[in-house]
Amino acid sequence: MKYLGSSTIETERLILKTQTMKEQYYLWQLLINPEVNKYFLTVPPKYRTKLLDWNLQKKYYEEEMKHANDKDIFKWSIFLKETGECIGRLSCHERNIEDENITNPNIRGVGWLIDPNYQGQGYATEAAKGMIDYMFLTCDIEKIITGACILNTPSWHLMEKLGFEKLPKTKMIQYTFLDSPVEIYEYSLSKEKYISLLNNDSISKRGQK
Ligand SMILES: CC(C)(COP(=O)(O)OP(=O)(O)OC[C@H]1O[C@@H](n2cnc3c(N)ncnc32)[C@H](O)[C@@H]1OP(=O)(O)O)[C@@H](O)C(=O)NCCC(=O)NCCS
Repeated sequence: MKYLGSSTIETERLILKTQTMKEQYYLWQLLINPEVNKYFLTVPPKYRTKLLDWNLQKKYYEEEMKHANDKDIFKWSIFLKETGECIGRLSCHERNIEDENITNPNIRGVGWLIDPNYQGQGYATEAAKGMIDYMFLTCDIEKIITGACILNTPSWHLMEKLGFEKLPKTKMIQYTFLDSPVEIYEYSLSKEKYISLLNNDSISKRGQK
């Protein structure tokens, strides 16, 4: 793959930019909203209290931002073109972070979150499509494997709209703020499959077909 980092990606209504410290407090507030973190955060539950403390998190984000422009980091803040407002975040990380058996850095995982005030308007689909285009067509990765809680319909629905194929087996995952593990679907999308879907026009500009 080509390590090109979090280059700016423009879609019809959105602009995805390298993360900066400026929007991290807002994004952290989103992250501690139970509506957002319920089926998203997988940090071990023992860190719950730390996650809720901005003063501790601020230090973590300051460290992270030192590497935001590194060429092996693929993580963007999502802005509305029209107002310049930040409405979420998305990333494409090495799948190894979630599955230690996968050591090939060309196999990636994805994560996305949108401010609840802006959900249901196709923004996640549009942003994810922009990022996936970039990762497959420009950075030349091989495959994306990801998971979504069965109860998180918007997330797996989005994966299916973008051509991800459901794997035969489900998995159990412990989310940070839930007291017991829950069942998730796993999905996979290869570069070849994605390109064939684009060529067949099965995925439109915003991924909405
Ligand atoms: C998952 C998430 C990013 C989707 O964001 P969004 O901008 O609302 O997504 P979109 O508007 O692009 O919609 C995606 C699909 O889910 C469907 N959807 C949205 N909200 C829904 C809901 N409450 N119930 C059922 N389906 C829903 C949409 O209808 C859309 O499909 P459609 O275009 O065929 O109708 C957002 O819900 C979120 O941030 N959730 C919290 C964080 C999270 O769980 N991330 C994913 C972890 S795997």
